[in-house]
Formats: sequence, structure tokens, C-alpha cells
Amino acid sequence: MSANICQPLNKNKKVNKETFVSSLLLQMTLKEKIGQMSQFNNDDKKLKSSIQKGYVGSVLNEVDINTINELQRIATQESRLGIPLLIGRDVIHGFNTIFPIPLGQAASWSTELVETCANIAAIESSSNGVNWTFAPMIDISRDPRWGRMAESLGEDPYLCSTLGVAMVKGFQGENLSDTTSIAACAKHFAGYGASESGRDYNTTNIPENELRNVYLPPFKALADAGVSTFMASFSDLNGVPVTGNSWLLNDVLREEWQYTGPVVSDWGSIPQLVTHGFSVDEKSAAFEACQAGVDMEMASDTYAKNLPSLIKSNNVNIEKVDLMVTRILTLKYDLGLFENTFTQSTPLDEHSNDFHLYVAKKAATKSCVLLKNTNQILPLSTSKITSLAVIGPLADDGYEQLGTWVFDAKINRSITPLQAIKDYVGDSIDVKFSQGLATSRSNNQKDFNEAIQIAISADIAIMILGEEAILSGEAHCRSNIDLPGCQEQLINAIYETGTPIVLVIMAGRPITLEKILPKVDAVLFAWHPGTMGGPAITELLFGEACPSGKLPVTFPRTVGQIPLYYAQKNTGRPASDATFVDINDIEIRAPQTSLGMTSTHLDTHFSPLFPFGFGLSYTQFEYKDINVNMCSVTMGESIEISATISNTGCFDAEEVVQLYIRDLVGSVTRPVKELKGFQRIYLAVGHSKTVVFKVHTDELAFYNRQMKLNTEPGLFNAWIGCNSDTDLKIAFEVILEQ
Ligand code: NOJ
Repeated sequence: MSANICQPLNKNKKVNKETFVSSLLLQMTLKEKIGQMSQFNNDDKKLKSSIQKGYVGSVLNEVDINTINELQRIATQESRLGIPLLIGRDVIHGFNTIFPIPLGQAASWSTELVETCANIAAIESSSNGVNWTFAPMIDISRDPRWGRMAESLGEDPYLCSTLGVAMVKGFQGENLSDTTSIAACAKHFAGYGASESGRDYNTTNIPENELRNVYLPPFKALADAGVSTFMASFSDLNGVPVTGNSWLLNDVLREEWQYTGPVVSDWGSIPQLVTHGFSVDEKSAAFEACQAGVDMEMASDTYAKNLPSLIKSNNVNIEKVDLMVTRILTLKYDLGLFENTFTQSTPLDEHSNDFHLYVAKKAATKSCVLLKNTNQILPLSTSKITSLAVIGPLADDGYEQLGTWVFDAKINRSITPLQAIKDYVGDSIDVKFSQGLATSRSNNQKDFNEAIQIAISADIAIMILGEEAILSGEAHCRSNIDLPGCQEQLINAIYETGTPIVLVIMAGRPITLEKILPKVDAVLFAWHPGTMGGPAITELLFGEACPSGKLPVTFPRTVGQIPLYYAQKNTGRPASDATFVDINDIEIRAPQTSLGMTSTHLDTHFSPLFPFGFGLSYTQFEYKDINVNMCSVTMGESIEISATISNTGCFDAEEVVQLYIRDLVGSVTRPVKELKGFQRIYLAVGHSKTVVFKVHTDELAFYNRQMKLNTEPGLFNAWIGCNSDTDLKIAFEVILEQ
């Protein structure tokens, strides 16, 4: 075999991209074409020999730089056409340096931060030879039982779109061909987050209107922002698994949205079409996936085995395959792989390492959400405390604080809360530690006594509880989202000592906290905060930083309320918290209608425990003077909605100012509130700022009954506030013309 014999691969000869790719395609055999459509896992025994034959387009899960360079060498120097490989990896929330889980990053409501975290992840992973990440996951997630909510950007289409686009920018950089840029992937297209009962891989049934108004907007936003790749979901969407769903992949993604990049299957999702009961055998599965528009097969080989005969029998036409291969080769070209195939081993200098850790700390700090702070127990004052009890299985575990998807983390870089608290207080405060429980799941109370003893002799107990990493993420769903194991009993035991409790929770999802809230004085929700979780939490606890995170998902009181999200429909019989009656107060044989006939549960409140967008600060912000620059806005124009926010407390702090709107009447009923804008602002004590949101009438559009995106004239309400449960409201009207 002779390498680089082909004219288009002559690096000295400048040809444009289309010419380059098409002339390369012209020289390819059918097997080589199908090879480009095949992604091999790194442990595949036939990997090297297949690359040599030109039968591999991409490899996933290889991160050893020498091995990657060797595979690229075989691909470019030993295969007939010398086509380099896409090297894919799940770089989800960091590579060596781990940032908060995506759900935590979403709690920062900071596009800048999310972009920087992704950019650092791209720098670190690309320096190992990775050129493609399977992120961001932009599945709207409204069911906290679903383990993959941890990987998501939360429940809201606007927040998810905005932060998802920021992540793509971070991964892909200014120019995809820069050696520090990697291709991003919009996944899992689409509707995966609606898996029934929050059980992973489960069926989804999403009416088209809901799909278009809620689940698809983040994908459309990423397609418009130039995301390089899409991944088809594992899930069954309305009876047609996405991997074989031509309507979604062809009609919507390609035709309507004009997306031109490659679509990769999920792991084995093509042969799984057989398991779904959608395809009779793997050949038919390969046919369905190819017809639907899956360009590359991840980890399985139904394309390699079946496309040749499907093409021969004219079931699949070669023009379709050519187009698919063209998309893959174009991505390789855009990544600059034909010119810069190999990765130079250049370890990060100290300065870059420090910067990555600095960003990791900043991201964790801005992601933590303060849920409760009775009598302003926080921030803790070192001058008023002489002893602290640090308790809990997650207080000193550098691995668990990283969360899900951390294959490449440098675990020894993690700084735990216990370490950071000790470093911060030095000798000034006596810090005692008891794990209390061996793990977050443990039911063995043998160490309770030790924890109780240190709490008794301390001024404050800092309890660091939650879920260990393995309890969230792919295939790690829970039917009960209370604190696992006997952590609640541990809280009760410490509560009995009378020592005030500051509870820090690390978790991959919302946790139902209603029962334990009364037992604790403060709650700081830290998600899985990543490498620098310890220092971030410590700075917040001691007031070196002020909490500013806001929930990207609604926190239910009890699992029975799920799905629970702020952008609900009003129903014909809306409830309010005023309708709440304690189930024990219901009279025996009360008349059926005596409790009111509204849309609520008898045994819990109508409201969530904490609403979407919620998060306290150490200071107080006052919102007033909501205003519009016009009472009616003509279709096609913009309206400005503003409010004045003042820092009336004692801490300089950041605040996430949120804009919600409601379209009061629609040809399709509209949610009671929808996020339409947010701004993270800084206000020093005593300062005020008027925050202005400019909203174009196009941003008020929704898919109507004909599935057309359209803004309807009529009355709207707008709210500006510190969370979705705000009542600072103003009305305006959208009119067709003046
Ligand atoms: C399956 C997951 O669903 C997907 O998100 C991931 O990127 C692939 N496996 C590759 O690991």
C-alpha cells in the first residue's frame, strides 16, 4: 500500500474544500465509504487492521496520546487514501480539570463561564489527541428521577438553548481548525429527557406541538450556532425510535433547519432498532437508520455488514451514502485534520494549570445555590466560632465530588471541602471530622455516635451529604429522590444535639428536602461541583464569596409531584397554594366538592419546594419599577421591559435578573410563564441598576396548531424578578399594525 497517493491529499496543492472532498470521494471504494461511516470503540480487536484497510472513520474512547498518534499514523500513512480519524470522547464537564456537572453549570446562569469551562475542556482534551466531544447534552429535563438530568442544562428551553450555544462556542472556539478546538455534538436528538417515569432509555411520547415548543428549540439554536455534529437519541419517539426516525432526522433537521453536518448514532442504537421491535433484523435496522439519515454508526457494525448488500440491491442508493460520507469528510477537513493530523505532546504549563483550577473554582462558586439561610447563619464568621464539626460521607471524598462522566479526571487534583475548610481556618478554629456514614447510600449507623460527639462539642455542624457520583448519570435513575441511605437519620441525630446545622448537598439532581428542611439552619446546594468544589464551598460558607447560583430546575416537595416545572399550562381549574388543605384536616365523609375542585394533590402543596430560578444571596435585592417603553408593540418590532434592582443588604453581590412572559391567549394554550431573558449583574451595597430586556416579537413566537412558528397578537404579561415565582408584573400588547 502506498500512502498519500491521492491528488487531493497533496498538502502543497491548495484546493477548495468542496473540490478536495469530492475528489477524495471519487477515489473511494464502497467499503472505504462505509468505513468512514463506522466508529469503532478503542478496545475493538480489529481496530488497527481495519484502520489500515481504510474501514474506520472514527475511534471513540481512546485518550492515550501516543496510541492516538499511532492510530492516526496508520490511518494516514498505511491506509490507501490516508484519511485521518475523528477521535471521539465524552468530554462532558471537563477533561483533566473537572467543572461542575452540566446541571450545576446551568445553575450559574453564566454564558461566559459555561463557554470558558468548555473551552478549557477542549484545550485539555485536544492536547491528548481528542478532536470530537459528545457534548453538550441539551435534552430538556423535567424529571429529576432521570439520572441524566445531571448532564443536562435543566428544564427550560431558553436557558438550555442559551447555555448550550455557549458550550458549543467554548468547545469549537473561533475556528474549528485551531488545534485547541474540538467538534461539539448536540445530543440526544430528540426528546430523550421525556423518558417515561424518569427511567433511562424508556419510551417517550411527546405530541408534535410540545416537541416543537419545548424539546426542539435548544437543538435548533445549536444547529443555527454551527454545532458540528448531532447525535440521534436511543429513545423511541412516539413509536418511531429516533435512530430510525426519518421525519425527525430528514424532514425537521435537514429539510426545515438546513443542518448540513453529520449525525452519529448513539452507542449501538442501530442494532437496538431490532430490540425496540422496529426492525426485523440488523439488515433492516441498517436500512432504516441509513434512510432516516444517521451518517455514522457508533460502536456497532450493522452498516459495515449490511450496507454493501443494501446498496447492491438498490434498497439504499449510493448517492445517499456519498452524501453521508461527504459530511464526515467535510468535518475532518473543517477540523484541519488533513493538515494537522498529529498531536504534539505539550504538557500544560503551570500558569495554564492554575488558570484552569481558578476557573473550576469560579464555576463551582457561581453554581452553588443557597436554598435556606435562617437568621443569616451564613456566612460563618471566623471570629465568632471556635469549633466546627464537619460531618458526612461527601465531606472528604475527592472522587465523589466530581460527579458523573469523569473518565479522564485527575482525581488527585480534587480539593475536598474538609481540606479546604481546614486550610482556610488554619489554627483559629478547631475542626473535627466524622464521616458519619461510610457512603451516601449506607444504612449502617455504627459511626453515628462519633458524629454526634463531635457535633455536641462544636459551635456549628457542617454536614456534607448528598449522592455519590454513581447515583446519577446514564442508566442511573432513582425512583425515590430523597437523600439516599440513612442520611436523613444522620441529620435527625445531629439535630437532636442542638448544634446548628449548615447542610451542604452534593448531588446530580434535585433532592426532595421537605422533611429535613426544618432540621437545618442553612442549605447550600452544590451539585457535583468538580475538582475545586472544596475551595468554592469554603469561600461561600465563610463569606469570601456570595452565593449567586439559581436553580435551573424546579425542586419538588415529593416525588409524586413529578413532572413539575414552572412553565406549566394553567389548566381549566388552576390551583394555588391557598387551596392547600392538610389531608389530616379533611373532615370524615367530607362532601366531594368541599375541598374545591382544582388541579392539585390532596397530600402535598400545589407549589414546588423551590421554584425554577430560585437562589438566595447573603445580601437582599429589591426589585421595583417594572416598566415598558411602549404599551403595545407592533409585530416585527421590539419592546423594552425594564426594572430597577437595588442591593439593600450588606454584601456586594451578583444577582441573576430574570424576565418571564405569558402570552395570555393562544391558538395553542401557552405556559403560565416562560423565561425570555436573564442578566447576571453585579451590585455593590447601596447601588441600584435599571436592567433592560429588549424583546422582539419574534421571540414571542410559538408553534401553532399547523406547526408553524408564529407570534400571535394579543395581551401579554411580563415579570422581572429573582426567580420564576415573582409577582412584579406589567402588561403589554402585541398588535398587527399601528
Ligand atoms: C451513550 C450515551 O447515551 C451518549 O451520550 C454517549 O455520548 C455515548 N454512549 C458514548 O459514550
